[in-house]
Amino acid sequence: MSNSVKYFVGNWKMFGNTRSFKIIDKIDQHFRKDKKNNRKYKVILAPPFTLLQDYSRRFQNKKVIISAQNCYHKDNYGAFTGQVSPYMIKKMGIRNIIIGHSENRAMGETNQILEKKFLLASKNNLKIIYCIGENSIEKRKKKTLAILKKQISSVIKKKHYLKKVIFAYEPVWSIGSGKVPSTSELKRIVITIKNFIKQNFKSNSQVKLLYGGSVDQKTIHNFKSIKELDGFLIGGASKSSKNFIDIIKNFYK
Ligand code: PGA
Repeated sequence: MSNSVKYFVGNWKMFGNTRSFKIIDKIDQHFRKDKKNNRKYKVILAPPFTLLQDYSRRFQNKKVIISAQNCYHKDNYGAFTGQVSPYMIKKMGIRNIIIGHSENRAMGETNQILEKKFLLASKNNLKIIYCIGENSIEKRKKKTLAILKKQISSVIKKKHYLKKVIFAYEPVWSIGSGKVPSTSELKRIVITIKNFIKQNFKSNSQVKLLYGGSVDQKTIHNFKSIKELDGFLIGGASKSSKNFIDIIKNFYK
């Protein structure tokens, strides 16, 4: 385990109602009580748009940071039914956003669209968690690294954006499936991608990279030895405070 700060990020997807803040409250309480470890990690939770305004106020002075799950690729206001712009997210007091999740890519979000989102989100000073990942066919064809590199270089065009981004490697075949990459395979990908980012952008600054896909209180043990990982993006297991807290506890056990 390395000394760098780890991120435990929960992505609620299409889940939650006005009472679900209790889940985040419990996670926040755990964080406060966890004096032994809480300087070593940050917790970010991404509820759906319907709860963002309320939760951003509720958790304003708490330790848990509230994040958006996505945004539209146009800014300010406009005739885009059902969409929310990065500007509107910022105005809610939100400072973090997930972009490029494979579930959104599957709904038609291309690298070109993501390039715009990336630009507008960073223009609005949002910290971006940028998801990349190969699907099972690409994995079988041994295209994993090529896909990840393309998802990075065709979306992030300028070096200074690197300061605002945390990458999240999420193999599509692993999301919600209970399957996780082997420790050695994941370590190799994490190191290769971090090096690629540094070389591609000729940057010496630290690159942050999370892993996501079937992370839970059991699978977390597989990742503890990968010191190059900067944390985890957690879907299913973030909907229960107990499961989420157990992930953190088991990571530091
Ligand atoms: P999962 O989802 O933890 O339920 O596999 C991860 C994600 O989609 O970010």
